[in-house]
Amino acid sequence: MSFSFEPRSDEEFLSYIASYLQNDDRLVSNLANLSALIYQYLDNISWCGFYLLDGNELYLGPFQGKVACTNIKIGKGVCGTSYQRGETIVVDDVNTFPGHIACDSASRSEIVIPIEGFGVLDIDSTSFSRFGEREKALLEEVMRLLSKKLNCSNASQNEEV
Ligand code: SME
Repeated sequence: MSFSFEPRSDEEFLSYIASYLQNDDRLVSNLANLSALIYQYLDNISWCGFYLLDGNELYLGPFQGKVACTNIKIGKGVCGTSYQRGETIVVDDVNTFPGHIACDSASRSEIVIPIEGFGVLDIDSTSFSRFGEREKALLEEVMRLLSKKLNCSNASQNEEV
């Protein structure tokens, strides 16, 4: 991959992700680099990473940011709730989300995007209401590209590339 990663728009970012994912690397390498690419591209975020499905829980996968909780039961926290519902959850103020799991007490807002049968992408910010329609659409598209590579279904996106 090229290390001169400086997308000037969401479209450029997504086309970079799409072309990056056309590699033969192992899953953990791809998830590690995806978390790094998102962390580098989006400003004002404090944590970005994956929680992966194993039985009735999600476990910590590749991420960027501070040390985080390792196991989240399906249906618990923002991550487990998003996975259970099969839909993106945007939380403007984590203190208002019942059962929010505070890995970092400085976190204020959060977005979680699930892929059925795989896990979730979780992103945190120390600012309130950091994630809006633009970030939701952008990150759902990233997960659609990833799910296409994994041959899993991303509940929120069904159209072809
Ligand atoms: N806040 C998440 C836990 C994971 S950390 O944010 C990295 C939740 O409530 O599921």
